[in-house]
Amino acid sequence: MKKILVTGGSGYIGAHTIVDLIENGFEVISADNNSRSTPDMLAGVEKITGTKIKNYKVDLCNYDETHAIFEENSDISGIIHFAAYKAVGESVEKPVLYFQNNLGSLINILRCIEEFHIPHFVFSSSCTVYGNPDSIPVTEETPRKNAESPYGLTKQMGEQMIESFAVAHPTSKSVLLRYFNPAGAHPSAIIGELPIDRPQNLTPVITQTAIGKIPSLTVFGDDYPTRDGSCLRDLIHVCDLAHAHTLALQFLIDGKNSSNCEVFNLGSGNGITVLEAIAAFEKSTGIKLNYSIGNRRPGDVIAIYANNDKARKELKWEPRNSLEDIMTSAWKWEQFIANQPKHLELRSHKLN
Ligand code: WQD
Repeated sequence: MKKILVTGGSGYIGAHTIVDLIENGFEVISADNNSRSTPDMLAGVEKITGTKIKNYKVDLCNYDETHAIFEENSDISGIIHFAAYKAVGESVEKPVLYFQNNLGSLINILRCIEEFHIPHFVFSSSCTVYGNPDSIPVTEETPRKNAESPYGLTKQMGEQMIESFAVAHPTSKSVLLRYFNPAGAHPSAIIGELPIDRPQNLTPVITQTAIGKIPSLTVFGDDYPTRDGSCLRDLIHVCDLAHAHTLALQFLIDGKNSSNCEVFNLGSGNGITVLEAIAAFEKSTGIKLNYSIGNRRPGDVIAIYANNDKARKELKWEPRNSLEDIMTSAWKWEQFIANQPKHLELRSHKLN
């Protein structure tokens, strides 16, 4: 059984990916300092899979702490690196925090890959590396444009660091996975997205508005050059995203990669607008959302969605969840949280 280190394993996509890895026969260990996540998430993974996950509560920006994980686990055959801060707005206010955390942790992981000759590496990247694309849908060949935020810049720099690393270390093979808009929750509603403080992303704002935690949702602009004036995005179910990581790892293990550093778009391939997402939630749940139109949000990309042909063809990846599945699973999770007071404590947890 191959052992995989998942960094950020208590996070939203990390936890869902661990479930998928276990269900596909991998052994998993996690490294997460819970600065932006709760250990409850791995407890949820255990409940779903019946497998207890060992978590190393270390600061991945500390080389010695990171190194110790590899000294204790000489049989790590792959790493999936999720651990990073990802609040676009916060990154604009605190760019150095993002450079230090997101790049510092990646550098330590790359140092350990080099020292311990780890053969397979999957990196959590983002469609933000495309900036405001000139044409959509974007393919993996669409050029990276200026990042719209320091967060997006750390993903672009991370990709370029790994590309250079791959040239110097041909025995360690890498995959960069560019997520579009992750949304939804595991069908069990035992794990899901747990925004700390007020959510930034659209889907948790929708569900928190529906349950009454947010009095009214503001649509950030309806004067964009799109079919209804609101921004266009590509929502991808977190379970489909999770499975893509398992497939990407297997792709590397099976030696199917044609280069040492492969890139894949992970989006549904369907663009929907903010207003259409709201309508989809209302239709899927029968709940009328309270929303109003506000000003544009600085840094927002106007329109982006994925051409996901490469992942379908080379990873044999098929996004199976519909927009309705996204909205109903997100809503079921929001209702689950509402009955779990301790989760609410985390919601009031201030960003450090
Ligand atoms: C989507 C749309 C908002 C909240 C994020 C991450 C990025 C990547 C993809 C991981 C925008 C609008 C939102 C609200 C709104 N994730 N909106 N009212 O900005 O596309 O990107 O997901 O890699 O890193 O930043 O996602 O959900 O914040 O916004 O109108 O209350 O919803 O303006 O048009 P975004 P988002």
